[in-house]
Amino acid sequence: MAHPKPISFSEAERLSTIFDSENREEWQRTSLILETLDLKPDMIIADVGAGTGYFASQFADLLPNGLVYALDTEPNMVSYMGNRFQTEGRSNIRPGLSTHIDPCLPENLDVVFLANVYRFIQKRDEFLANLHNQVKPETLVMFVDFRGGHARVSPQQAMDEVVKAGFVIEDMNMDGCPDHYILRFRKPRLA
Ligand SMILES: C[S@@+](CC[C@H](N)C(=O)[O-])C[C@H]1O[C@@H](n2cnc3c(N)ncnc32)[C@H](O)[C@@H]1O
Repeated sequence: MAHPKPISFSEAERLSTIFDSENREEWQRTSLILETLDLKPDMIIADVGAGTGYFASQFADLLPNGLVYALDTEPNMVSYMGNRFQTEGRSNIRPGLSTHIDPCLPENLDVVFLANVYRFIQKRDEFLANLHNQVKPETLVMFVDFRGGHARVSPQQAMDEVVKAGFVIEDMNMDGCPDHYILRFRKPRLA
């Protein structure tokens, strides 16, 4: 697997003007992503590569009896989220550090979510192997990432890599968002 060039995400305050921008619904179609996740109020979700917490805080609103793990490899993002969630008075989000090859997932997750992260992962085969080890067949995994000219990893390549890692694809939505695909997959049950 080719390794994309590393990018720094240490400037959390500055990046928040992009990640949390008011027009994000326009370019991201967040509402469709939330609808596709179909979250129930008591679910437990891990947002891996959560950044400034754009999705994680919306998940927290939708999971009043559940829990959100907001994980990121960048310590500045994790501390930014800690401050943000405290200011917002949220008690159902746990920010935490993960590593570049290991999502560091807790047990018993209903959903694992990565938005705009997969294309930045350097060793995707190792990351996917760890992800596979840490989820159950009941756990939905959903990737949202760029398609078209902006794609560092094409949608087809992402699907091929996920299948090679032992997952089964449930669906791929290529045209619901302006520039992103939505890919849902799971680990199969043992026969
Ligand atoms: C473009 S931002 C997306 C943030 C957020 N998901 C969103 O859509 O607003 C990518 C984030 O992924 C994190 N990241 C990069 N590689 C990662 C990895 N291997 N595991 C977890 N997070 C990673 C970065 O630190 C950064 O915060």
